[in-house]
Amino acid sequence: MDKKTIQQLAERHGTPLLIIDHERIRKNYRELRKRLPRIQVYYAIKANADPAIISTLLKLGSSFDVASLNEFNLLFDQVKHLEPRALQDFIWNKIIYANPVKKPDSLHVLNLYKPLLTYDSVEEMKKIKLHSPDAGLLLRIKISDEGSVVKFSNKFGIDPDQAMDLIKKTKENHMTIEGISFHAGSQCNQPGNFVKALRTVADIFSQADARGYEIGETVTKGYPIKIVDIGGGFPVRYKGDEQSFEELSAIINKEVDRLFPREKVLLLAEPGRFLVANAGTAVASVVLAKHSTIPPSYHIDDGVYHTYSAMVYDHIPINVHAVKGGTPKECRLFGPTCDGLDTLSENEYIHNTGKVFLPDLHEGDLVYTENMGAYTTASSTYFNGMPPAKVVHINL
Ligand SMILES: Cc1ncc(COP(=O)(O)O)c(C=O)c1O
Repeated sequence: MDKKTIQQLAERHGTPLLIIDHERIRKNYRELRKRLPRIQVYYAIKANADPAIISTLLKLGSSFDVASLNEFNLLFDQVKHLEPRALQDFIWNKIIYANPVKKPDSLHVLNLYKPLLTYDSVEEMKKIKLHSPDAGLLLRIKISDEGSVVKFSNKFGIDPDQAMDLIKKTKENHMTIEGISFHAGSQCNQPGNFVKALRTVADIFSQADARGYEIGETVTKGYPIKIVDIGGGFPVRYKGDEQSFEELSAIINKEVDRLFPREKVLLLAEPGRFLVANAGTAVASVVLAKHSTIPPSYHIDDGVYHTYSAMVYDHIPINVHAVKGGTPKECRLFGPTCDGLDTLSENEYIHNTGKVFLPDLHEGDLVYTENMGAYTTASSTYFNGMPPAKVVHINL
């Protein structure tokens, strides 16, 4: 984003600010569709649940991954005007509730709409049967998330060796298994994770076929359609040395075409970060500039408890720039709260932080960070009575 736009928006709206560029979101969506042509894109709302982002993606024809009834309702609000039949079709064809752990009351509400849900245990399957018996199920398997920045396999996914037993139990409970899902970890830099996971899924499908456990009960053109949900994890360029998406998508396409016949398998993905990260620019102001310290210390009005919470939860590297020019010099950079953890430059408690270099700054000067659209405001707090950054949308 150009500095003039940043300056103008900061003057108009004040700081801290998160600027979301919707043209970028549209570009990212089109790139996903172009590079993964067989894959239906379900935006993982958890990355950034702003209703304006949901609306932009809805207009593009995106599908959605929700992690809670609240996220489902955010989306539902924007489609509830549809005729009952169209609404039902939208929910079945375009929403997945991909959190393998769900509250009974949420399941109860969702059962009205015959939802598509993930699960990874016999206990969750039985809970779903009780509270959402009309749901379709995707079995989430555990796969390697080596080389991914944010990991999930410590918590989710059934070991592939136990998948057949759970499929058998699910069938015995008369629940419908539509397919298999996995997640290679967020910001995945290891294409091999996808390759191995796709092979594991193909292997489970053939074992299930051999035992007569039908997976995929929606019959089209005489075949049951099996769903393969390849999760999210598509990497974003934060520093420039990350796995290229162009290369990753080519590897995924090759494997998918080799393993899964078009007419029998429906592929979907749940990208979050890839769609919104590079659409967001965080802008903050210097509240106090201490030139009496060595190096100088700058306290800004956004930090680790707010938009920069991504440094803690999402482990992203940050690269703060100044709007004004000048020779960059080493400095210390702090967020606005009373906690020492709220430090954006070298921080012993936060992995991935380093020295920060900025020109001489004074009170009121602006700093900004790009690639802040995903997992930033999502984890922002009101700590110290300071609200999350205001969000401003451009190119809507
Ligand atoms: C189940 C599930 N699907 C999709 C995503 C989105 O992943 P990403 O932002 O890496 O694309 C996540 C991230 O937490 C997730 O847990």
